[in-house]
Amino acid sequence: MTHLTCMPCTSAHLPAIVALEQRIASYPWQDSLFQDELRPQWQQQSLHYVWLAPDGCVVGFIFCRALIADEWWLLNIGMDPRLRQQGWGERLLRQVMQQSAQRGGESMLLEVAASNRPAQRLYEKCGFVVIGIRKNYYHHTGRQDDALVMQCTLPQTL
Ligand SMILES: CC(C)(COP(=O)(O)OP(=O)(O)OC[C@H]1O[C@@H](n2cnc3c(N)ncnc32)[C@H](O)[C@@H]1OP(=O)(O)O)[C@@H](O)C(=O)NCCC(=O)NCCS
Repeated sequence: MTHLTCMPCTSAHLPAIVALEQRIASYPWQDSLFQDELRPQWQQQSLHYVWLAPDGCVVGFIFCRALIADEWWLLNIGMDPRLRQQGWGERLLRQVMQQSAQRGGESMLLEVAASNRPAQRLYEKCGFVVIGIRKNYYHHTGRQDDALVMQCTLPQTL
């Protein structure tokens, strides 16, 4: 099994993250959205990490931020397809759930495309449940999809 190293994300990782996002996401974030999340003003209320392969390449990432006081949002997560279904995504998610709870977070929320079953299964495994649906929330190159809003109560899931 490949050994990956977890590191806090910095702006130096962004070009590789954006390239990975373009390859893997159905509704990809643009470069500016990732850059925005790394702004110093969010530092106290955000958590972002990357998985690095032994050669230093970025092969996974997670972005999470407290949007309102004790309410944290999982904003984005992605793994290189070659390293999926080996537990790396779940480890990243559980790490930010634990750290956001330590920072006083009481709940974590996220939006996920209704068609994205692998991600939904990951979230369900980590204790998230669907609390709402945003109709036709995602639009990209002629496709559209509903978003499921999922939530978990942080202390109960650790
Ligand atoms: C969602 C994603 C990050 C999961 O990463 P991963 O490293 O493959 O996930 P893990 O190996 O940690 O899997 C953890 C759990 O998620 C679920 N899961 C992950 N991939 C799955 C799949 N293809 N089918 C069904 N369940 C899946 C399983 O419950 C799994 O636990 P198990 O192995 O004990 O059954 C990855 O599929 C990905 O990058 N997808 C593209 C980007 C994306 O959709 N991001 C989410 C945006 S909201």
